[in-house]
Amino acid sequence: MHQDAQPPLDVETGRVRGIYDAMAPRYDRMIAVAERLLFRDGRQWACAQATGRVLEVAVGTGRNLACYPADVDLTGVELSPSMLAQAQARAQALHRSSTCDSATPST
Ligand SMILES: C[S@@+](CC[C@H](N)C(=O)[O-])C[C@H]1O[C@@H](n2cnc3c(N)ncnc32)[C@H](O)[C@@H]1O
Repeated sequence: MHQDAQPPLDVETGRVRGIYDAMAPRYDRMIAVAERLLFRDGRQWACAQATGRVLEVAVGTGRNLACYPADVDLTGVELSPSMLAQAQARAQALHRSSTCDSATPST
């Protein structure tokens, strides 16, 4: 095998999914620190630009959901089932008419 060869996509995808599945219970606490120090109001600013039908790829735990204008028709996709479960719970708690679904239909 060539030295620079990448592992097959499904192996790499599984590896990344495993990392985020393991991180999911701590993700919100971990990222909250970076948000305060680095992002500041970046989420609010970016999401406020959205209009109409929006696809958020890698929606994570859904931390952006509350930042979109109420009339945005949002679909979020996410690789990690544990992250996705949190996004779905968050969407429900916010009464958002958003759809958060798996990025990999077979999972
Ligand atoms: C750093 S987190 C960011 C989550 C969220 N966007 C946020 O701002 O908090 C990266 C997310 O990307 C997801 N992800 C990685 N590769 C992906 C892919 N190919 N398709 C969908 N989601 C993916 C991970 O599972 C993880 O939840």
